[in-house]
Formats: sequence, C-alpha cells, structure tokens
Amino acid sequence: MTQITVELGDQSYPIVVEPGALDRASQYLQGFAANNRLFVLTDDHVGSHLLPRLQDGFAGSAIELVVKSLPAGEASKSWDQLEMVTDWLLAAGAERSDTLVALGGGVIGDLTGFAAAIIKRGCNFVQIPTSLLAQVDSSVGGKTAINSAAGKNLIGSFNQPRFVLIDPLVLNSLPDRELRAGYAEVVKYGLINDAEFFGWCETNSEQIFNRNSDALSEAIVHSVRAKALIVGEDEKELSGRRALLNLGHTFGHALEAETGFSERLVHGEAVAAGMALAFRYSVRRGHCDPADAERVVAHLKSAGLPYDLSSASARASGQRLVEHMMHDKKMSGGTLPFLLANGIGQTFLAKDVNLEDVAAFLEESS
Ligand code: GLY
Repeated sequence: MTQITVELGDQSYPIVVEPGALDRASQYLQGFAANNRLFVLTDDHVGSHLLPRLQDGFAGSAIELVVKSLPAGEASKSWDQLEMVTDWLLAAGAERSDTLVALGGGVIGDLTGFAAAIIKRGCNFVQIPTSLLAQVDSSVGGKTAINSAAGKNLIGSFNQPRFVLIDPLVLNSLPDRELRAGYAEVVKYGLINDAEFFGWCETNSEQIFNRNSDALSEAIVHSVRAKALIVGEDEKELSGRRALLNLGHTFGHALEAETGFSERLVHGEAVAAGMALAFRYSVRRGHCDPADAERVVAHLKSAGLPYDLSSASARASGQRLVEHMMHDKKMSGGTLPFLLANGIGQTFLAKDVNLEDVAAFLEESS
C-alpha cells in the first residue's frame, strides 16, 4: 500500500494506492459514513461488475450503501443528470455531513464532485476511480464539472475530495483502448518535468498494456505523486504551475472538437496527439531538439496512440483547428497560452504564441 497526501492545508487529503483495495473499501470508508450511510454514484458498466464487490465489502456492516447508477458515457456530464442526482440526494435527505462516493471513471468523478460541491452548499465526497485516466489524473486535484451546450467542463468548481482510493487491479477489466488512452496521461508526467520517468515509460509500457500489476502500480504511484505535488503548489491554476498539466490539451481540445467529442477520438487519445503536436511545434519555434520530438512520437506510436492529425482522424485545415482552440476556456484577453517544451521533461508555458503561426503549422502537418 502506498499513501500520498495532497497538501492543501485544512483541505489536505490522502490518496491510497493498493492492489485489491476495492474489496477492502469498507475499512477505508467507514469513517466517512455519517448517519451510517454512503451515497454511491456509479455508471451502468462499472455498476455491473465492480459495484457488487464494493457492496460485498459492506455486507454485514451497519453502513448502508445508497446507490444511483447513471448511463455510462460523456453524455451523463449534463445538466439533466446533475439535476437528477441532486433531486435524488435531496429526496433521500442527504445532509452536509453525508459523503458521496464516486465509483467510476472521469465522468462519474466529475459529476459526483460537482454535485457534492452544490448540494446544500456542499457535502463530502470520495473518489474510487476505475479507469487509468481517472486514477492518474481526474480523481486527483478537485477539478469537477459538467458540460454545457457551449463546451466541455464549462460549468464546474474546484472541490477537493476527502479521500481517493485507487485499486490498480480493477484495470484488469478495462478495455484495451481505454487503458492506452489513460496511459497518455501517464506519459504526460514524464514529458512535463521528469525525463527519467519518460525513459521508464519507454521501457515498461508493454508491461503496463499486459496489465502487469507491479508496472501498473508503479506508473500510478509515480503519476499521482507528480500530480499531488503540482496541485499542492497551485490548486486553482493561478501561478502557471498547474497549467503544466495541460500539456497536449490545447492541440488535443481542437482535435476533440473536430471529431465531435465522440468515440472517434477519446480524451486520452486527443492528449497523446496533442502532446506530439506540442513537441513538433516546439521544434518549429526553435525550442526543442527534433530528436526529442521524434522520440515522443515514436513512443506514442508504439503505444498504439495517435501522434498526428491523420492518426487522430482529425484531418482539417489549420484555420479550422485554430478556430476550435479559440473556444478553449484557457483563452484570456484574446490570447491562448500554450504548453511547449525545450525538450523531454522541460515543458513550459508560452504566452506569446501567434495563432496564425499555429494554423500554418497545423496546415503543414495535415
Ligand atoms: N487535468 C488537469 C488538471 O487536473 O489540472
């Protein structure tokens, strides 16, 4: 078992990474069961195979699990589902001292965290992330949101969980495509500021895709440690430090928008292609050795992830992709900050990027 703390003063919280932890969740969660109950939110996929294991752990205990299962998929991050969840909580008499448990991937985590932020002006929530992407990224750091007609994650709040319980073994049942998409966010930590970890990824990615428990645990622990440190330094993305976690996301956002935020290109895949584009664009601007960008591309390619517009199924004009970027919520005063790199493990925030130059670069890349 490894425990990592997100250091945020009186909002600090532990993250436990432990193979098999789902079956022991009752031991970890009993302290959160005000009124001898926990409100569990999950989705129809996770609910069918992982929820019974959570419930078995509580069998014979005095704690009641009050469960709501939502349709699996991004469409559940909506006003409709948020309203349904908050109505359900209010009808069940949820109080501020109660705790919501998010058992699922990023969609369930984001929706549960936001519901917890607003129900009676705030109750507690804990995360039990069940996808690699949620384990290494979205369950940590308190970004919660739903989508709106204007775009993804535009309605939300920073709301830190009280506890995160990560069981790497639940990934054994994760579809291969989702595992690989989540892996893009693991690689991201190496590219941001840890060249040695990127080397570890190059050596160990096959073990990860073969669901080797030790390799998965190491990747998760390393990633969560890196994220916890950054969130502890810049919880609300004010200083530029947390913005580093957006490497690949600005290019990736354009690719996701072009493919309709659909199954054609899932978030982690868009981030993979976005990171490759960020490195190639860094070469174009003279920041980065071309050999580093080629190493990034080669690794993403070997991991079965998209690494350019064509492999991301997002062939569009540079101008059109830049127009998508202009709807990014990071736009500020008509400019868009970009995460670029001086090399592997040397990401930095550039605020002087000319969008016409980005369009020209993308045009040449398509
Ligand atoms: N996923 C980026 C962040 O949590 O800041």
